[in-house]
Amino acid sequence: MTDSSIPRFFEKTRKDRLDIVADFADLSDDEMAILQDDNGGISFEKADKMIENAIGMFSLPLGIATNFRINKKDYLIPMVIEEPSVIAAASKGAKTARAKGGFTVLADKSYSIGQVQILDVDVSAAITQIKNSTDKILQLANSKSSTLSGMDKGAKKISCKELDTPSGVMLIVELLIDVGDAMGANITNTMCEAVSPLIEEITGGRALLRILSNYSTKRMATARATFEKELVGGNKVVDNIISAYEFADNDVYRAVTHNKGIMNGVIAVANAVGQDSRAIEAAANAYASRSGRYGSLSTWSKDSNGDLVGVLQIPLSVGVVGGIANVHPTAKACAKILGAKSAQELACVMAAAGLAQNYSALCALATEGIQKGHMRLHARNLAAAAGATPDQIDQIVLQMTQEKQISLDRARELLGQI
Ligand code: MEV
Repeated sequence: MTDSSIPRFFEKTRKDRLDIVADFADLSDDEMAILQDDNGGISFEKADKMIENAIGMFSLPLGIATNFRINKKDYLIPMVIEEPSVIAAASKGAKTARAKGGFTVLADKSYSIGQVQILDVDVSAAITQIKNSTDKILQLANSKSSTLSGMDKGAKKISCKELDTPSGVMLIVELLIDVGDAMGANITNTMCEAVSPLIEEITGGRALLRILSNYSTKRMATARATFEKELVGGNKVVDNIISAYEFADNDVYRAVTHNKGIMNGVIAVANAVGQDSRAIEAAANAYASRSGRYGSLSTWSKDSNGDLVGVLQIPLSVGVVGGIANVHPTAKACAKILGAKSAQELACVMAAAGLAQNYSALCALATEGIQKGHMRLHARNLAAAAGATPDQIDQIVLQMTQEKQISLDRARELLGQI
């Protein structure tokens, strides 16, 4: 099976959902066993080696967003998140986008930025000295990774900037490193530390910090999708969604919430496939402030047909090799489900998930409000938990939402009556 639009996936049993996912992603018995391990996939012994002072494990729900078609390929997207409605919203947004071909996403190559801070230096002389020694510095940096060098990747460029600070001027030397399919934090830090004595020698300055920048502006992903106006709810709803976006783009209090909705999608995928979510969040928030004023990460407009067009541009430093993704069995199984073969492909999926999520949030907010759908979903989950069949679920949900009495007890009672 290669089609990610699976009717009524949410009403299926866990076993049926897993079977569908296994078929889609060609999962092995071992991978299926990992997904069914309710302890979250890792032993305490492993956890104890991953972090310090470990005392236990902490599980979060793992679900699957359906309907995604990105750059003409179908995806079932694993999402790890504690918040209800997010996976339903992503799937709904993807379903609407799918009618117009799905998401078109472009992602930059994975260029990581490393920074070396040089103090006690004649900055302008040092900049000339560094320019004259560029090859030597790059060579030294690249000697730290035969893997990247062997793939014609690695440190590619050096740039310098002067910072005027209250404690005096300082020179910041930046390495631009093609980290391939890795997130690249370790190799970036290693290269920065390796070249700093040479930079000290060349400039006569003193190196202080040597660390990657998480503001990954050379790893941008730009997702775009068109949402047919009839499916959105008509011209008026399209216009209202655009007004909702303009609210976010012109008011920081709304923009933070709007972007939080985008990050619901992005981070849920990041969690599932073992990415550094803090790095992604920090970069996204800085990017939302790039004009000097915090605004929306997405833009919404309409095309000449009157259809709604959403674009999300977001820095995403992610990897498919190295890091936790290679250690954590559930993250590995999720990566298999997702099937992203490169860091760029993973970034494309994450950006599409963010845009889908943003669409559904705006659509709900600009029409019936966020609570109604949320409560409907809650009622549906309760009806399913009470043991109702798909047909019975519809009846129970209708009854519970009409009488505004949504609880497991009421779902059981109504099921008994049916
Ligand atoms: C809730 O987690 C996310 C929303 O608040 C996003 C938004 O307001 O756009 C619904």
